[in-house]
Amino acid sequence: MKWTETTSYRDLSQTAASMLLDALDQNPRLVIGLPTGRTPEGMYSRVVQECRRSYRCFSDVVTFNLDEYVGLRRDHPGSYASYMRKHLFDHVGIHPENVHIPDGLAERFRPTEPGHPFDDSLAKECEAYEKSLQEAGGIDLIFLGLGMNGHIGFNEPGAAVTSRTRVIRLSESTRKANADHFADGDVPQRAITMGIATILGAKKIVLLASGPAKREAVTRLATEQEDIQFPASALHRHADVTVIVDRGARPVPEEIVIDLE
Ligand code: GLP
Repeated sequence: MKWTETTSYRDLSQTAASMLLDALDQNPRLVIGLPTGRTPEGMYSRVVQECRRSYRCFSDVVTFNLDEYVGLRRDHPGSYASYMRKHLFDHVGIHPENVHIPDGLAERFRPTEPGHPFDDSLAKECEAYEKSLQEAGGIDLIFLGLGMNGHIGFNEPGAAVTSRTRVIRLSESTRKANADHFADGDVPQRAITMGIATILGAKKIVLLASGPAKREAVTRLATEQEDIQFPASALHRHADVTVIVDRGARPVPEEIVIDLE
């Protein structure tokens, strides 16, 4: 695991955006895994600024988002589909058919006959998501945020390292942490997420963590062995992981692991 400490959230965002844009320069047909949450907002905003200057920026890119809430329409303001449109997709010239976000309503698998269990449709949606990922040739580069409980995507503590895209039940702490995005505070109970094995299948992984709220989780990642109760620790299995932290999130004690660039 390679560690990069940046001085501020701004610096972290610029560093992450440069990694993405450099990878795009090298391969305009990049298959990218994308996160949501507050942390990547700065990265997206810089990528958008740069892409405004280059007209072909995302024209051949294929994206796969990590996760989506179950039960929300794509245009619900709390959905990750809305988040991605607002922060990235509406501004970078990506082709809609190259955008993949799990559908928390599994519309394409909802049969017309009444009484068909919704969960069957969701299971088919998850299977189809994995299939389109394989068909795209796998993920070249994936960006991750970090939950305070160590979740990556929506893989909550206890998620198996062999897990693939599936429906999960959100922990109360995660629902609380994400409540701001729902006017009524009514965060869905479940989500579809790429599994740990799906994430580990990416060629390169970049995890972003910003601010003191993430310091404890970052310290665990830096100092502890793999532990199923701390999902991000599965990243130790992967050969090409870069963790980018800002000063606020830097692990304690401060002398460990940081390899200043
Ligand atoms: C959500 C997302 C995760 C994200 C996490 C951290 O739970 N599903 O993919 O990493 O939030 O979010 P934030 O960056 O807002 O702290």
